[in-house]
Amino acid sequence: MRICYTIEEMREECRAARSGGKRLGFVPTMGALHEGHLSLVRAAGDGCDVVAASIFVNPTQFGPNEDLAKYPRAFERDQELLEKEGVELLFAPSVEEMYPAGSGTSVIVEGLGDRLDGRSRPGHFRGVTTVVAKLFHVVEPDVAFFGQKDAAQVAIIRRMVRDLNLPVEIVACPIVREADGLAMSSRNAYLDSLQRRQALVLHRALMRVKECWEGGERDAAKLVAPGREEIAGEKSVRLDYFEIVNPDSLCAVENVAEGTLVAVAAVVGTTRLIDNIVL
Ligand code: PAJ
Repeated sequence: MRICYTIEEMREECRAARSGGKRLGFVPTMGALHEGHLSLVRAAGDGCDVVAASIFVNPTQFGPNEDLAKYPRAFERDQELLEKEGVELLFAPSVEEMYPAGSGTSVIVEGLGDRLDGRSRPGHFRGVTTVVAKLFHVVEPDVAFFGQKDAAQVAIIRRMVRDLNLPVEIVACPIVREADGLAMSSRNAYLDSLQRRQALVLHRALMRVKECWEGGERDAAKLVAPGREEIAGEKSVRLDYFEIVNPDSLCAVENVAEGTLVAVAAVVGTTRLIDNIVL
């Protein structure tokens, strides 16, 4: 696996990798890799001739009081994992490389960027879309792989790609969970053993909504009620949002149809976790 630290190097390597019509798949990450990330790498390997990944803890998507400084970093271990999965190119730029002094241009997806996580984390999606657009320009992938775990992120990136006519196909991969249902996340490392148990309430709440849906309920307010009740029952967990939305527009829906997104975000201790299901 070739590791590139500069934009110029990565762009050259990616162009060479695509020569002769080879299909280049790309998996952007912030590192501290787990099976969720690796599932994206495997999906890329299945559908593409060459796989590139990036590890960059992107400062512009963290709010001023968020966990940028303590975000888990495990570069050597990540490197080994990617190598084992057959990744050929790894982009690992510094903050200065990605955002040289004076950087003042960003990509904003109006509307969508202020919904769900964007509402509770102002500026978060602006940071995500800006860095992903920049990464796409460096790597120029044919296909890029994202996890359904961050459902709002997928919707916003699809919209950005459509609006800016970026020549890349976006593939969303299913959520990878721990055996007990907790969605894998680099942030799970922050949880102590009590919080780890409490964190299961997110998945339990989503399962209650699913049961209600399977029982024939189609009214969003009635579907969401048992989910909210479940979260309220776990006193030390603070609900951020529990919403039933259209998966493309992220707008709330009243009458729920198949394919609708049920998304939850909650804070366990000081750790903000998200999860979702598609009905
Ligand atoms: P990060 O949180 O590292 O996640 C990288 C990719 O892995 C994202 O597409 C995310 O949805 C996916 N992922 C995380 N947990 C997953 C799980 N349990 N199952 C399946 N996929 C999972 O998301 C980001 O980084 C950043 O916002 C990024 C897109 C890299 C831009 O900085």
